[in-house]
Amino acid sequence: MSFDRTIKIAPSILSADFANFGAEIQAIEAQGADWVHVDVMDGHFVPNLTFGPPAVKAFRPHVKTVMDVHLMIAPVDPYIDAYAEAGADILTAHLEAGPHIHRTLQAIRGAGCKAGLALNPGTGIEDVEYLIDMVDLICVMTVNPGFGGQKFIHSQIDKVKRLRAMIGDRPVHIEIDGGITPETAPLMAAAGADVLVAGSAVFKGGSVSDPAPYGANIRAIRAAAEGVLGTMA
Ligand code: DX5
Ligand code: ZN
Repeated sequence: MSFDRTIKIAPSILSADFANFGAEIQAIEAQGADWVHVDVMDGHFVPNLTFGPPAVKAFRPHVKTVMDVHLMIAPVDPYIDAYAEAGADILTAHLEAGPHIHRTLQAIRGAGCKAGLALNPGTGIEDVEYLIDMVDLICVMTVNPGFGGQKFIHSQIDKVKRLRAMIGDRPVHIEIDGGITPETAPLMAAAGADVLVAGSAVFKGGSVSDPAPYGANIRAIRAAAEGVLGTMA
């Protein structure tokens, strides 16, 4: 996994057909997805339940790009090894998930994964300063985590701009998660984000037997994001 700041679209399989994950992952990759975003929820840190390590392990052989695993769980540390062994390329933990995020990020890299740090919409970036050299990705939540299909929170645009300035030349991705559409993607690309997670906006209108809409949706988000960068250059 080499580092670059080009726009990457990471469909969230939270919006996929839950009876058909292997085929859905293959379909989104064939239709142009750059990464595959896997939302792990525990019914405690967030009010929803999704994938344990065996499920993530079952997804792994289908993912040919990057498996980006977003842990919305607390505590995190007891499960890091299991999700790393399940084949995560990136493991992202929430700053809000416990008192020892520094230790959590160390453990993620220690388990051989790229380390991601996620921030809820209500969390400021002050606490990122002493963590920034320990992470490969910062995920700015633009909805409150727990569900797909929620409305984008515009106050996060300023947060991303300030985070981008803090990162400077470091090889750290800024990922945006929640409410990304062709309308909101350019706002975040302009602010400095490079990884755009999208669930409902990628999967809408398509299916495994009719995957072409996935491709059209991915291209529309990418074109909107790249378009604004073109006008800034
Ligand atoms: C929310 C998840 C997101 C979600 C995005 O808790 O972390 O990844 O699936 O879904 P959309 O794009 O529908 O907002
Ligand atoms: Zn997510």
